[in-house]
Amino acid sequence: MNTPPLIAVIGTGYVGLAAGAGLAEFGNTVVCVDIDSKKIESLQNGIMPIFEPGLKELVERNVEQERLLFTTDIVDTLQDADAIFIAVGTPMNDDGSADLSALYDVIHSIGKVINKYTVIVTKSTVPVGTGACIRHILEDIYAIDSCMFDIVSNPEFLREGSAIKDFLKPDRLVIGTESVDACTTLCRIYDSLLKEGTPCVFTDVATAEIIKYASNAFLATKVSFINEIANLCDATGGNAQTVAYAMGLDHRISPYFLKPGPGYGGYCFPKDTQALIHIATTYNVPMNTVQGAIAANVYQQQVSLKKLLHLTNNLLQGKTVAILGLAFKANTDDVRQSPSITLIQELKKYDVTINAYDPEAMRSMAQMFPDVHYCQSAYEALTGADAALIMTNWDEFKHLNTKRVASLMAEKIIVDMHNILDLTQLRALGFLCDGIGQGSLLHSTR
Ligand code: UGA
Repeated sequence: MNTPPLIAVIGTGYVGLAAGAGLAEFGNTVVCVDIDSKKIESLQNGIMPIFEPGLKELVERNVEQERLLFTTDIVDTLQDADAIFIAVGTPMNDDGSADLSALYDVIHSIGKVINKYTVIVTKSTVPVGTGACIRHILEDIYAIDSCMFDIVSNPEFLREGSAIKDFLKPDRLVIGTESVDACTTLCRIYDSLLKEGTPCVFTDVATAEIIKYASNAFLATKVSFINEIANLCDATGGNAQTVAYAMGLDHRISPYFLKPGPGYGGYCFPKDTQALIHIATTYNVPMNTVQGAIAANVYQQQVSLKKLLHLTNNLLQGKTVAILGLAFKANTDDVRQSPSITLIQELKKYDVTINAYDPEAMRSMAQMFPDVHYCQSAYEALTGADAALIMTNWDEFKHLNTKRVASLMAEKIIVDMHNILDLTQLRALGFLCDGIGQGSLLHSTR
């Protein structure tokens, strides 16, 4: 009973990899499984499939200490494991619902091989009721006795770009299960975090499943809310950063996640807000605030183009536009649902030449837009450009030498969608420029 539980982590995406390496770091023995043999082979050779700060070092350390293994052999891994963490993707279907096919494939694999008591843990973001469905499949289709397994919902709250830090030092753990045995197993797995005093919410499976969607939808709503306030500030002359600062001093609101920008993107918020609405609709429950957050975000992803058109006097045809930042946020190479995608799609309608630069995300974006001119540096992208937009809040853009930028650009026009640069300084250098929520539309008319 004192040997630590053997953990299988199924899926080696952001969550699976970070969770696998993180659980090993907590002292557990972890086997990570993926059906993608190329990915597994790369991981076995120490090559990470994603850019994530600290991941490579964490994987290397735990592989070296023989706590972390990578394999494609799902059958043996499932049979041996005491706890199976499912971390496969749950992408969005066309109707907004979560596509659970990869998750149910895993459950069917488990159903075929399980031969001893196993704790089945969903790390993937799944709609409420999924845990109950898993139980139904195993008991009714595979005739597995209910005492042979327990279901736990243990949602993950890590963010891309800080996944390792978030996994190793989470704000809270959520362990949703109706079983005391499963709860004990999870407590052993997370022993080091619990000893450090990490708050842990013990609840039932359904509540844990809802906590994950509610958290993401609330955060998305927070971003959409401040973006709408920023747009109002632009129209009226207020300053959204000061508004957010003052709002955040109220403990009930908090200062975090109140930065206006080009609209939220990424894998999670867009799909999880839609999935929450889909499941609520199934039960005839209105979800108006989340609907509003989505609508506000669709609008927000157009704001950068509106600002550019304003500053260029609607004369974009034939111009060269530099886009600094392609990833949906800093410290990731992920471009899924990135505001830069919407911008590029819109700019293409104007027959402009697009120079793009991102420290990590150019390879992913080139798969979608091969005809964009990808540059080796921000300065190369800005050379000869008639206008520039900062679309991702990468640190290196904060340190741009604005005098050099002024000398490189054909026309000095900048839209800074993350308020990284000092507009007053830019204006002193002769730029026509705009940030977000700085009331600056009033000052930037040509
Ligand atoms: C999000 C959640 O924050 C995680 O807790 C969750 O685990 C994850 O989804 C998931 O479900 O897997 P992530 O999508 O990696 O994490 O990125 P965030 O840092 O949350 O940013 C989401 C979007 O909101 C980005 O486009 C970001 O630029 C934007 N954002 C964030 C703002 O525009 N303003 C802010 O103040 C904060």
